[in-house]
Amino acid sequence: MSEHTLKPLITKEEIEHTVRELALQISCDYRESRPVLIGVLKGAFVFLADLIRHLSIDTIIDFMQVSSYGSDTVSSGMCAVTKDIHVDIRDKDVLIVEDIVDTGATFHFLLEHVRARHPRSLKICALLDKTSRRTDGVTIDYCGFSIGNEFVVGYGLDCDERYRSLPGIYALKNK
Ligand code: PRP
Repeated sequence: MSEHTLKPLITKEEIEHTVRELALQISCDYRESRPVLIGVLKGAFVFLADLIRHLSIDTIIDFMQVSSYGSDTVSSGMCAVTKDIHVDIRDKDVLIVEDIVDTGATFHFLLEHVRARHPRSLKICALLDKTSRRTDGVTIDYCGFSIGNEFVVGYGLDCDERYRSLPGIYALKNK
C-alpha cells in the first residue's frame, strides 16, 4: 500500500511532445557534429532513452552518477562522482542530460568536473527546471518544463526508488 498521494502534473503526451521538440532543436544545433550525450544516473535514464530515439544526428552515449550529501530535502551542495564517464571527451561537443535541476548543486559540480576534461563545447539539457530552490545561477541550454517547488516523481524520478517507471510526472504528497 502506498503512503503517498500522486497528483498528475505533466502527462505522458505532454512529455512526448516536449521531448520531440527538444530533440528537433538539438539535432539542428549539432547537425555538423557528433556530440557526446552524458546521462546523469539514475533519474535521467528514461529521458535520455526517449530523447536519443528522436534525434536525427549520430551521438555517443555515456553515463555519470553523482551522489549529493544532505538530508532528503536539503542539499548540502557537496557532490562526489560515484560513476565516471569512459569516453574521451577532449575536443568533443558534450551535452549533459539531466532529469531535473533543483538547487543546481549537481549541475555546478558536473559542469566543473566535465569542463576539466577539455570538451570543445559543453551544454546542458534538463527535462525539468525547479527554479524556486535554486541557490546558484544556472543556465539550462535545453529545458523541457519549469515546475514549482513540489517533490516530483515518475518518468525516471523516484522517491526512495519508487515511481521511476510511471510514464507521466506527478507531484508527491504525503497522506
Ligand atoms: C536528482 C537529479 C539531479 C539532482 C538535482 O538526482 O537527477 O541529478 O537530483 O538536484 P540538485 O539540483 O539539487 O543538485 P538524485 O540525487 O535524486 O539521484 P537519482 O537521479 O539517482 O534519483
